[in-house]
Amino acid sequence: MKDPKGRTNIGFEKHIFVCENSREDGHPRGCCKGKGGCEIRMLFKKEIQKQKLVGKVRANGAGCLDFCEQGPTVVVYPEGVWYKIENPEKDVEDIVKLHCKKGQIVERCKIQLE
Ligand code: FES
Repeated sequence: MKDPKGRTNIGFEKHIFVCENSREDGHPRGCCKGKGGCEIRMLFKKEIQKQKLVGKVRANGAGCLDFCEQGPTVVVYPEGVWYKIENPEKDVEDIVKLHCKKGQIVERCKIQLE
């Protein structure tokens, strides 16, 4: 079937999933929505536009990615790099500019498990 946007390839160069899962107050695992997940997704969308990466990089909201305690949780494919967003404006800008555009992993934002 012909693509309505004229694309000839399926998928994206980078695909960003941003957890927006919501849980009730007091849940022991917390939730990314309560830590700004939806706002972070919107920042990704704005930064993708700013960097002129629309069509190449896509940010989608996701359900629970199961690393709730580390959140707000973001994962970028195809590399499968997991990030924790602590400073939304700066972290999102760097992940799009450095990781998505230049292929450089943003080490300071990676989730670290003990
Ligand atoms: S609620 Fe975001 S990873 Fe589980």
